[in-house]
Amino acid sequence: MKKKKWLMAVVILAVLVSALLYTLLMGHQADTDYNEASTNNAETDEPFNIISFEDGKANGFVGRAGSEVVSVTDKENHTEDGKHALMVEGRAVDWHGPTLRVEKYIEQGSEYKVVAWVKLIDPARATIQLSTQIGDGDEASYINLSSITANANDWVKLEGTYRYNNLSSGYVTIYFETIDNPAASFYIDDVQLEKTPSQAVEVQEDLKPIKDVYEDDFLIGNAISFQTLQGIRFDMLEMHYNSATAENAMKPGELQPEKGQFKFSSADKLVDAMLDVGIKVHGHTLVWHQQSPDWMNTFIDNEGNKVYLSRDEALENMRTHTKTVVEHFGDRVISWDVVNEAMNDNPPNPANWRASLRQSAWYHAIGDDYIEQAFLAAREVLDSHPDWDVKLYYNDYNDDNQNKSKAIYNMVKEINEKYQQEHPGKLLIDGVGMQAHYSINTNPKNVALSLERFIELGVEISVTELDIRAGENHKLTDKLAKEQGYLYAQLFELYKENADHIARITFWGMDDGTSWRAVNTPLLFDSNQQAKPAYYGVIDPTEFILEYSLEEADIR
Ligand code: XIL
Repeated sequence: MKKKKWLMAVVILAVLVSALLYTLLMGHQADTDYNEASTNNAETDEPFNIISFEDGKANGFVGRAGSEVVSVTDKENHTEDGKHALMVEGRAVDWHGPTLRVEKYIEQGSEYKVVAWVKLIDPARATIQLSTQIGDGDEASYINLSSITANANDWVKLEGTYRYNNLSSGYVTIYFETIDNPAASFYIDDVQLEKTPSQAVEVQEDLKPIKDVYEDDFLIGNAISFQTLQGIRFDMLEMHYNSATAENAMKPGELQPEKGQFKFSSADKLVDAMLDVGIKVHGHTLVWHQQSPDWMNTFIDNEGNKVYLSRDEALENMRTHTKTVVEHFGDRVISWDVVNEAMNDNPPNPANWRASLRQSAWYHAIGDDYIEQAFLAAREVLDSHPDWDVKLYYNDYNDDNQNKSKAIYNMVKEINEKYQQEHPGKLLIDGVGMQAHYSINTNPKNVALSLERFIELGVEISVTELDIRAGENHKLTDKLAKEQGYLYAQLFELYKENADHIARITFWGMDDGTSWRAVNTPLLFDSNQQAKPAYYGVIDPTEFILEYSLEEADIR
């Protein structure tokens, strides 16, 4: 009798356990069916309990740098009936701050809302950002979700959403940082992460691929990161683009963080992934004043001051970096931004291009011929590989500013003319890159003037980092969306007219969600990867301009 009861209990338990397992498995499958790639977090997607620090623990929050102090305090609190908050002090750099690993709560393809309350301690006013990091180390992407300029002693809310389309790295965090206030201290409280009801998105397959529309005119490119290698963004890349620029992975700080220690494996992975699907790669960038390690042109002297290296040492570092990198990627790339952003903004006397140069560390250490020297180093490599077809570019932003474009024109003209005296018929600088980080207030007539000026140099032109800031706070009104589309259309009319001189047009990001300027919704696709008016402005500018003008006329 006893044995029978025991057997029954085992059977019932087994049935219950299998039923439970079945529900769990099927439930999860139903959640993830839309996307084959989402199997890597099968045991994850745990519920996230709001973090109020009331248990006196940091609940997984740690300092991003490790040097800042993150501690639970009862000096402040935001939670109703609560007593505690998390305090962050001892920050030294803007990116320092509290961070929390969240991948176990996230299901690939779903959109999440992140909410948190922050209260600035010091200074009296500062901008605090809530961001998310996907991937670790060299392969990380950083996305700003929300930012707010806060006054000390006021609790303010940070809130943003993000769709996690690619979790292949298995590493996701949410974190807090500042803008231009590296030493700011603040509290955070009531951190929340929840899935939004917004459905998973799919590629809009009925759209005209942008690259097909401009097949006979120029290459169409996009900026890529490791997050672009999978999921919907990869599908979009393959559908609309035939060229790509690494958004960060080929910058000097990534490729040679320590002197003599080149790190090529991540960049190689990115480049090869593009070549595998027939997407051409543009190299960005060799010599720049940002995202470049200090050791290249400065050192710390005995008194602890940062001073410039001697001309010879800096030149040697610049030449070694340039030559090694150009040689390494060889003809896997079609072109290089050899020098990036060497010119000042709106220089008062563009006739004197030397006086118009940015006073960067390269400029101080080497002198005003550092640009020419960088191109000579890259050219040496190409000369020893006559079978490679790789173009060398000078690349800069605010290219619609007439003084800046005149200074660039004068510089490129003089450097190329000098080179031609010894190398008749050859160019040292093959191309000028117009970054084209524009805003809704950019006047396309100024863009046209600069473009025409650069064409006069007899070099090829590429539009290298196109985006148009329009919205605010991650939001875009219908009216501004149309205006943004109109400006994209005006630009593409201009580009089409000058297609003989333009090799490539590259957009700086796939969609508003991942743009480096996500706050201002600058791209063709929204943060759910759906086409905006901007997309239609690009694929059929004439039609877009006509309709826009008719609508405007109607309104008046
Ligand atoms: C930006 C990237 O988009 C960001 O992810 C990064 O944090 C900073 O750099 N001009 C350039 C690009 O040449 O390399 C910059 O890219 C944008 C401005």
